[in-house]
This record gives sequence, C-alpha cells and structure tokens, in this order.
Amino acid sequence: MDTSAVNILFKQHFGYTPAHVVGAPGRLEVLGNHTDYNEGLVMSVAVDKYVSIAASPRTDGKVELVSSAFPQRDIFWISELKHNPAAPWADYVKGTLVQLRKRGVHFSGFNAAIHSTIPIGAGMSSSAALEVATALIVRQLFPYSLTELGASVPPPRDNRGRLPPLEAKEKLHLARLCQAAEVEFVGVNCGLLDQLSCLFGRAYHVMNIDCRFQSVHHAPMPGEALVVCDSGVKHRLAAGEYNALREHCESAARALGAKSLRSVDLPWLKANRGNLNQRQYECAYHVVGEIQRVVFAEKALSDDDHRQFGQYMFLSHESSRDFLKNSCPELDLLVELARAHPGCLGARLTGGGFGGATINLVAYHQVESFIPAIAEQSEQRTGRKMKPVVCQIVDGAG
Ligand code: GLA
Repeated sequence: MDTSAVNILFKQHFGYTPAHVVGAPGRLEVLGNHTDYNEGLVMSVAVDKYVSIAASPRTDGKVELVSSAFPQRDIFWISELKHNPAAPWADYVKGTLVQLRKRGVHFSGFNAAIHSTIPIGAGMSSSAALEVATALIVRQLFPYSLTELGASVPPPRDNRGRLPPLEAKEKLHLARLCQAAEVEFVGVNCGLLDQLSCLFGRAYHVMNIDCRFQSVHHAPMPGEALVVCDSGVKHRLAAGEYNALREHCESAARALGAKSLRSVDLPWLKANRGNLNQRQYECAYHVVGEIQRVVFAEKALSDDDHRQFGQYMFLSHESSRDFLKNSCPELDLLVELARAHPGCLGARLTGGGFGGATINLVAYHQVESFIPAIAEQSEQRTGRKMKPVVCQIVDGAG
C-alpha cells in the first residue's frame, strides 16, 4: 500500500506529520450475490485498492476529518456523533466511532486525513474499507482489544511502538462492529461480506465464506487475471433497493418456515411457491441457486477447472439479472461484451448491484487484448470512456 498521498494530504491540511497511518483494502465478490445475509456461501477476495487514514491525536475532544475525494472537511465533538448532510462520507467514520464507544472503547479526539484508491460506488466496498480503517486508526491512537463482551485490556506495543497484528477472533469482532456501523448509522442493512473480506483477505487466495457459521477458509485462486469494469452507474445502496431485496429474501424464508434461505432447497421452494408473492419467489430462487453455484464453483476451483468456474460466474450474473433483478443495462452490456471475448472465462456483476462494476476472470495471456477490446466496444456502445482495471489479490487489513 502506498501511503504517500495520505501523508501529503495530512501535512498539507494540518501542517505536521501524522502519528499513524493505516490502510484497509477493497474487495471483489467473486461469486455469491446477495447470499451473505441469507446465511449462505460466498467467495471473495481483497484487492490492491485501499482506503488509507493518517491521523494524530488531539486533546480537545474534537475530530477533524479531511478527505481527498470531497472538498468539504468535517469537524465534530466525539460527544456529538451526528449526521452532517454536507459531509455524508463522514458517516462511515462516525458510525464506527459510535460502535467503538458502545463497546466501551475509550478514545479522545484526533485529526485525520482520508485517501482512497477504491472507486466510490463501484461495488468494491469503499464503505467497509473506510469503517475498518477507522476502527484500526483508533486502535493505533488509543489501543484497545475486542472480545465478545466488548473492549478489554489493550495489547502491549513492542519496543518499536508497534501493536501486534489482529488475531482471527478479534478480526471477526471488528467485522461485526463495522457492519453494525453501516446498519445502524448509515442505514444499509448489509450482510457481513464486505467487512469480513476487508479483514480476512489473503494474497493469491480466495476466501470461501460460510455466513451461517461466519467462518472463512482460504483456497488458492486460479492463476488468471481479475479485471474490473466500472459501469459508471453509481450504485445507491442506501437508497433502499438493497434493503428491499433483503426484505424479500427474509420474508420469503419466514413464509417457507425456514430460519433463512440457506435452509431451503429448490424442491421445497417450488413445492411452496403458492406461499410466496412473485418478488419473494424470484429473490429466493436466485439465492437458493446461487448458494448451489458457490458449492459447485468451489469444487471446480479445487479441480483447477477455470473454464467451469467461469461458467458459474456467467450463470450468477444471469440469475442476478433475471431473478434478483439488481443488474442494469450498463452492467449487462459489459458482461455481454466480455463474454464474446475469447480470453474471458467468466464475468458477472459484483456486490450490491443497481450499478457498480463487473468482475471478469480473464486468461492471463489474453489480458492485453481483453482490456482495449472491452474499452473500445463499450465506448462505441455507450459513448462513455471506461478503463478496465486489473486487480491483484492482497492480504486483508489488521
Ligand atoms: C453489498 C453488501 C454485502 C452483500 C453484497 C451482495 O456489498 O454490503 O453485504 O450483501 O452487497 O452480495
């Protein structure tokens, strides 16, 4: 992670050198769309795009935030963590501070500069990365450790002032804390995928996440390239579409007498179709099939069958488009163009949907022809310039 931009931003704004810098990566959902909050299975990777925060403590109980992505700075008392309509981006920071406080973490004010290389609204989890980076910068400034019951004795620093890396258990507590920030403060009723991915990523590996047991297993990722194509349509998770999908899924599970859609199989769903309205059925049909696809895709991956793995990605997109209905014409076009390219093994929308980006699995030796081909054809069809980006799989934060 390159910290020079965030260091410069801090120095320019506050006039001195920050005490600490942390970073948290974005993620790509490789397969398993909207399965996480249904206690399902999902595959994801952390990628080499980061939110970084540089910060120093201050003694007057105020937090001052500046971001390279927004002109408006935000300044507030730690005792008054409220929404500021002029700086909605600061909600992710404030929401995380509220949750830290709720768990008994003591902190004072600080100055912080935020810089992100994760495109905002592209479905790569810039929000989860900002939440995780916030929790980590507070840990650097005012050390704490987290248990099931809340804050506990802070870890000791080594003789160079460094804190020990987070253990898996603590990462899980942190992921839940950040998810609560998004649900309670930002108002997106999201699952745990983004925060888990940001913390549990491992270089060159895919995370197989079981959301019922909140467990993460790493498996080597195929030696092919992951290419992201941004549709340019900003997804609007907070606008309610995401929460509505979740509501359809959860009410469908209730109507089927199941704890979650994880417990439902296709014959049961079909046999009980009469208990569901049209949207409940469509969303449940997507989720039940998508969980199955993840099971099969994990198998394809362990068999080193990348073509087969890619087929599940295409099928996933079709299911999101036709049943969950969270795609849009721009995403469909990108998948269609990618699919027609001989180097493309699989392509699908990634993340919440309703805009954002597609993820493409591309044979390494064809990446050089894939990128200009998709860029050119997409510009021809939409009139908009789009630059596909190759992402590297990296370690998670903490
Ligand atoms: C967003 C949410 C995640 C997950 C995905 C869809 O990224 O934050 O919890 O539901 O959408 O799979």
